[in-house]
Amino acid sequence: MKEWKRPQLPVPYPLVVVVSGGDKPNPSPYIFYGQFNEHPVVIGIGIKEKRFTYKLIKETGDFTVNFVSREMLKMVDRAGFVSGWRQEKSGLFSWRRSSVIKSYFIDGAPLAMEVKFLREIPFTDHILLLGEVVKIWVREGVDGRAFVLSSYSEAGYYRVGDLLERWGFSRREP
Ligand SMILES: Cc1cc2nc3c(=O)[nH]c(=O)nc-3n(C[C@H](O)[C@H](O)[C@H](O)COP(=O)(O)O)c2cc1C
Repeated sequence: MKEWKRPQLPVPYPLVVVVSGGDKPNPSPYIFYGQFNEHPVVIGIGIKEKRFTYKLIKETGDFTVNFVSREMLKMVDRAGFVSGWRQEKSGLFSWRRSSVIKSYFIDGAPLAMEVKFLREIPFTDHILLLGEVVKIWVREGVDGRAFVLSSYSEAGYYRVGDLLERWGFSRREP
C-alpha cells in the first residue's frame, strides 16, 4: 500500500445539483453530498462559504437537491463554472415549483428533493450544511437504473457501473 496525498479521492462521488433562490433558481453541482437519516430523510452537502448558493440557502432557509440525467450533463458542468454572484443561471434548466418550500427543482430530474435547512457545521474550507427532506419527486418511469450520471471522480463524470450482487447474497452462499 502507498499513501494517497490528494484531498479528492479516487472513489465515486455522488453528483447532485443544488438549487436555491426561490423565484430565481440558482443551480450548482455538488459532489460533497450524503444522506444521514431515514425518518425523516436528512441529507448534507459540503459547501464553501463564498458560494452564492450558500447565501441563498441561508436567506430562504431551503433548497432542492436534484439528481441529473445524461442529457443535463452539459448544463450541470456549465453551472459549476459560473457563479450566481456574477451571472443569472436560471436559464440552464427548466423548472418545477416545489410544493412545500420556496426553491424550485429541475423539471425532468430523475429524482428531486425539497429540503429545509436544519443546521451547519463549519470546517476549514467547507461547511457541512444539513437539511431535512420534506418531499421527494421522481420522474415517471424511473427505476434504479435512471441514475446513470450521479457519479463523479478524478475530474470525470461517470455512469453508475454494473450490478455486482444483490444485498444479502453472502447469506445464501457458503
Ligand atoms: C462537478 C462539480 C462538483 C462540485 N462540487 C462542489 C462541492 O461539493 N462543494 C462546493 O462548495 N463546490 C462544488 N463545486 C463548485 C461549485 O459548483 C461552483 O463554484 C459554482 O459555480 C458555485 O455557484 P454559486 O456561486 O452560484 O453557488 C463543484 C463544481 C463542479 C463542476
